[in-house]
Amino acid sequence: MLGFFLEGYGWLPNRRRRAGEHVVETRAFGWRVTALCGPDAARFFYDETNIQRHGAAPGPVQDTLFGRGGVQGLDGVYHRLRKAMFLAMLTGEGVALLERYAADAWDAAAETWSTRDSVVLFDETAEVLARAVAPWVGLRADESLAADLVSMVDGFATPGPRHWRARRARARRERWLSDVVTRARGTSPAPAGSALAAIAEHTDSAGDPLDPRVAAVELLNVLRPTVAVCWYVTFAAHALHLWPEHRDRLRDGDPAYAEAFVHEVRRFYPFAPFVGGRATRDLEWDGHRIPAASLVLLDLYGQNHDPLLWPDPYGFAPGRFLERRVGAYELVPQGGGDPLTGHRCPGEMVTIALLRTLLPRLAKLDYTVPDQDVDISLRRVPARPASGMVLTDVRVPAHVGS
Ligand code: HEM
Repeated sequence: MLGFFLEGYGWLPNRRRRAGEHVVETRAFGWRVTALCGPDAARFFYDETNIQRHGAAPGPVQDTLFGRGGVQGLDGVYHRLRKAMFLAMLTGEGVALLERYAADAWDAAAETWSTRDSVVLFDETAEVLARAVAPWVGLRADESLAADLVSMVDGFATPGPRHWRARRARARRERWLSDVVTRARGTSPAPAGSALAAIAEHTDSAGDPLDPRVAAVELLNVLRPTVAVCWYVTFAAHALHLWPEHRDRLRDGDPAYAEAFVHEVRRFYPFAPFVGGRATRDLEWDGHRIPAASLVLLDLYGQNHDPLLWPDPYGFAPGRFLERRVGAYELVPQGGGDPLTGHRCPGEMVTIALLRTLLPRLAKLDYTVPDQDVDISLRRVPARPASGMVLTDVRVPAHVGS
């Protein structure tokens, strides 16, 4: 694991390059680890007869990023039932409403940015998204909600102060949301059709409601990653700063180009480094023996930069997504395969919708990027531009908005 802490996103790709092999065998947390990469490997990894998730996430990741008892650690029929709840919330008509809330929150915030000397785009976008997702879920955002949700993501893969901040944020928010769920089941019903109502009323395969603490974990599984879309908005600002030639096309409002740009941001920039599970039995992949119960990782960052899949993988080229159909096991920033039957992110449609709405708005803003450190260290997981993208002289052109 030391290798991961030292090398971050480069850990597995560097080892693959050094060994001249597509499979990495190593150890982490006292477990034997086999790390895979590529569409065929992804197909193997997402076959639940090969890999299960129960017991795969280390304690420090559960106590910050995931929580305990949530969908990430379920398998088989338990997973399908819980996953269907997420997909019903995150792929239906509600997506357009969340997009609308986010657009309105962005437009209102952008007006205030123009009255300030400077803004940090990362922090501002986290606030915008918290203001959009909280009422959409059926909750009221308080002033530290965005910061707490960002902390849970920011601190999962580091042993330092960011990690302890993440643990405190999760503990605080699980307590709050357990109470909210208990009240929603009693004196203070959740808004009809909201995610809060769906989670409070959800029953497991035995017909029992979720324990309030587990319901809180699942509510955080909607709130936290929606706010984490601020990482991608900040990365998009980074891309527009480094390669301003893309701004005009994004500003023009061509939906096909906006979607291609969104996909390239998700492919190019580092966010989730890998996903992991346990071998259900003794397995073999590409001539490598994988013992039962050992840890298997799928290198998401490595696959999104694999030259066999993406010509010129370290070039930022949204046009590549205008020219090709993307298979379910190729572009994997949010996992691969079928989200219904496997663990692929159920929020991918929401992520794409939010970015399709917000990135053209970002491109239409007038602003200056003053001198600052926009470096993105691949050793920091999750990565982000060091400055958070400071903007000055922000102006909202008259034609922007709804
Ligand atoms: C910021 C953009 C996002 C990224 C980079 C991201 C990434 C991921 C990744 C890598 C996984 C794991 C896939 C696997 O285990 O195979 C995942 C799972 C998940 N994501 Fe996302 N996600 C994002 C946005 C969202 C959103 C907006 C939501 C909900 C509103 C969401 C909800 C979830 C849930 C509930 C799971 C667990 C699924 C399961 O275990 O079956 N994510 N995401």
